[in-house]
Order: sequence, then C-alpha cells, then structure tokens
Amino acid sequence: MTDYDVLCVGNAIVDIIAQCDEAFLKDHGIIKGAMNLIDVERAELLYGHMGPAIEASGGSAGNTAAGIASFGGRAAFFGKVSKDHLGGIYTHDIRAQGVAFDTVPLEGNPPTARSMIFVTPDGERSMNTYLGACVELGPEDVEADKVRGAKVSYFEGYLWDPPRAKEAIRLVAQHAHEAGRQMSMTLSDPFCVDRYRGEFLELMRSRTVDIVFANESELKSLYQTESFEQALDLVRADCRLAAVTRSELGSVIVRGEETVRVDAIDIAELVDTTGAGDLYAAGFLFGYTSGRSLEDCGRLGSLAAGLVIQQIGPRPRQNLRQEAEQAGLL
Ligand SMILES: Nc1ncnc2c1ncn2[C@@H]1O[C@H](COP(=O)(O)OP(=O)(O)OP(=O)(O)O)[C@@H](O)[C@H]1O
Ligand SMILES: [Mg+2]
Repeated sequence: MTDYDVLCVGNAIVDIIAQCDEAFLKDHGIIKGAMNLIDVERAELLYGHMGPAIEASGGSAGNTAAGIASFGGRAAFFGKVSKDHLGGIYTHDIRAQGVAFDTVPLEGNPPTARSMIFVTPDGERSMNTYLGACVELGPEDVEADKVRGAKVSYFEGYLWDPPRAKEAIRLVAQHAHEAGRQMSMTLSDPFCVDRYRGEFLELMRSRTVDIVFANESELKSLYQTESFEQALDLVRADCRLAAVTRSELGSVIVRGEETVRVDAIDIAELVDTTGAGDLYAAGFLFGYTSGRSLEDCGRLGSLAAGLVIQQIGPRPRQNLRQEAEQAGLL
C-alpha cells in the first residue's frame, strides 16, 4: 500500500516570463540557457528592464509534481513559500493541479522566490532566480508519513544552493530507504553540477540516490568529459538507473547493462524550452511508478516534454492523461 506515487522536493518558485533578444542577455550579463542565481537588488534591476511578462507557478520539482498529477499520478510536494501574494498563487496552483502540498509557509521575509525567465527567439530559456523563502527549507519541513508512503521521492539538485535543504534531503532519503522506497534526483543545471560535483557523486555512489535524471550537458559536467558515451558508461556504474535527455534527440536510459534509446516527439514549433527536463521526469516517473517498461517511461517523458516546449511557461495546459491516451501510451 502506498499513499503517493511520487513525492517531489524543490525550490518553490513563481516564474516571471518575458521574451527578449540575444543582445539583452549579453547587455545584462545573463548566461544563456543557465539558471543564474541573483540577489534582491539584481532582481529589481532586471525586472525594471524586463518587457511585458506573464507569471506562472514553476520551480523544477514543482513542475514535475504538477505533471505527474496531470497524468493521473498521486503526487506530493515539499517546498517553502512565504505568506505573500506570490506564495498564495503558488499554493493555489499546485493544489489545484491535485498535488498534496502542506509545507508550512514562512511568516514575512524573505518573500516567495521568483525567477525571471528570458526566452530568446530560438526558444531557449535563461533563468535568473532570487531564492527568497526557499533558503528556509530544512529538515523540520520533512513530513515523514508522506515520504514513507511514496513509491519514489524525487528532488532537484538545485536544493544544494539554499543552506539547509540538503539536510532535509538526507532525512527524506533515510525515511524513504527505511520504508523500502526509492530516491531520485535531477542534476538540474550544468553550473549547479559544477558547484556540487563531489556531493552529487557521493549521493549516487553511496546509493542515497537510486535514479538520476540529467541532460547531456549536466552529465558531461558531472564527469568533466566531452564524450557523451564515456559519461554514459560512468553513470551506468554510479547509479541503478539513469535517464539522460538530449533535446530533439530524445533520451537514453541506462540500467546496468541495459540501454534504451527513446525518440523525442515531432513538434510543430519550439516556443519556450522552460520545463522540458521537468516534464520529461514527470512522464518518466509516472510511467515508472505505474510499473511500465523503461521504453514506455521514456515515451511518456518525451510526450510531456514535447508538449510543454510548444507553449510559454513551465507546465503544460493540456491534461497529460488524455494526451497520453490519445497517443496510445496508456
Ligand atoms: N526541439 C525539441 N523537439 C522535440 N522534443 C524536444 C526538443 N527539445 C527538448 N525536447 C524534449 O524534452 C526532453 C528534455 O529536453 P532537454 O534535454 O533539452 O532537457 P533540459 O535541457 O533539461 O530542458 P530544460 O532545462 O530547458 O527544461 C527531451 O528528451 C525531448 O523529449
Ligand atoms: Mg533542465
């Protein structure tokens, strides 16, 4: 008996999204395609220079939780917002999607986290994140019953940026493994991997983490190699199961000696890549926790990711269960 398919833990962030040209990124010193951490002063400066924007609930693991719920999976989320306007929006949106979310919000400062996301004409997203209330997430926010009742607990590598979230994750791992469950993480971002390479490798090699998600550049950063095939062989040895995404080339899933290659779906137009990796993880974990083959897990991931990149914002507006049924995947 389980209460949840997947418990997700991450930075609870509201995205503020606008389009911009390449020159804007250069002029403002924004690293393209990356998650840039910013302080409150820089947040104000960038917002002042930003064109007309739309707000949407986001955050990597939160997007994954919302995606799993949209597939009809049972999802829960831990993440810290503040009791302010954006925190209210975040809480409403994730609950309205059917995700169990009960982390106690912060009273007052710092405010709810926000990420200013600039989308260039090629569809690439460059994020500028002010962590705000997320810096307060800690072990006291771990609801043991939810962890123990979830088939898989999943967290974002981004949680190594705030000071105490890693303590929360170590506690989640302890509860999960005591209850015979599995732990999963995403490497999140190549610069994030650069900041915490040693700790991420230790999480994998100590089997604190069983299932790893990464994109190609994160995996290469982890092993400091330019060879994708070499990185794939190394990750095969370091964790039980890894799913590596390669944008329009789809994904490669490795488990021991097994290798499964899955195509991306054909898309009409690439609008905004925000959420691609998060929604791939959602489809994969929904498939995995409902006992499907690795190939089907990857195909569910490709579907959800392929849908989110054809729209602005990090969470697909379609019902993913219906989409998957129509595609013959469920
Ligand atoms: N151009 C594309 N066409 C079709 N599918 C795509 C394309 N780009 C990405 N995808 C889908 O999204 C999945 C994840 O993409 P990618 O490897 O770019 O992840 P990512 O870099 O973590 O994305 P992001 O961090 O922007 O959310 C791919 O495995 C693929 O299924
Ligand atoms: Mg990503």
